Amino acid sequence: MGKIIAIVNQKGGVGKTTTSINLSASLGLLGKRVLMIDLDPQGNATTGVGLEKKGLTNSIYEVLTFRSKIEDAIVKTKSVNLDAIPAYLNLAGVEMELLELERKYRETDRKINRVLRLKEELYNVKENYDFILIDCPPSLGILTTNALAAADSVLIPVQCEYYALEGIMQLINTIMLAQRKVNPNLDIEGVLLTMLSVNTNLGLEVISSIKEFFKERVYDTIIPRLIKLAEAPSHGKTILDYDPKGKGARAYLNLAREVIEKNGTEK
Ligand SMILES: Nc1ncnc2c1ncn2[C@@H]1O[C@H](COP(=O)(O)OP(=O)(O)OP(=O)(O)O)[C@@H](O)[C@H]1O
Ligand SMILES: [Mg+2]
Repeated sequence: MGKIIAIVNQKGGVGKTTTSINLSASLGLLGKRVLMIDLDPQGNATTGVGLEKKGLTNSIYEVLTFRSKIEDAIVKTKSVNLDAIPAYLNLAGVEMELLELERKYRETDRKINRVLRLKEELYNVKENYDFILIDCPPSLGILTTNALAAADSVLIPVQCEYYALEGIMQLINTIMLAQRKVNPNLDIEGVLLTMLSVNTNLGLEVISSIKEFFKERVYDTIIPRLIKLAEAPSHGKTILDYDPKGKGARAYLNLAREVIEKNGTEK
């Protein structure tokens, strides 16, 4: 049964999408069957795995609003063992639309809970995958809430910078709220340090403060700041295709091994 991991941090630009793309591809290369869901209207994870936005008719928006079956929105990527559900700008309007649907069906037998839409849809495909990764937008709105309700665990990328822990309490509170209201079993999968610059001492200070806060939940693997990781998406390639022998590919493959090991030894 697929383990569902939401990649979450309401702070923008911390490496959620880069991690969703490259961790998904790495898990796939290591033989796991992976589904990556783009849950951000920006659609960067979609283009990052090489999907052309034109030409695809179904996306996660059509799935959440009952316009498409989830099976019909899944597309194969060029990466081995990696399927994806794309997202486009139309996803930005989903909150109003789900509220409207919820209201419309309130007095009927067909009850709709806008927070549980993704969870309900994933029932139908969960068994086809070992891992399902969800790339969340930089906010704690309806989309992230859907991800927190559907997920088994959250992976939190944290950028190695001075203000790294800013906003973390708000994120923890949101996770605890999701646990109380909709998903009592939601776990913290791990905390990933991203974009570590080699030639500053600042990074080391940040690492120790984050480790103090999150303890053993912090992955041993740290993602370095690398031009290649930033360039790859503009070529529609994961780092495994763009620079297969480089440090970025090595880092994300190491992270994938940690994720697999952690999940293999549990339960
Ligand atoms: N390890 C890295 N080295 C260099 N650049 C990186 C690295 N990780 C991410 N970036 C770049 O930093 C920017 C933000 O990364 P990314 O899009 O992955 O973050 P995000 O958390 O998904 O952002 P958003 O909150 O907007 O969704 C992007 O331009 C990306 O290419
Ligand atoms: Mg993103």
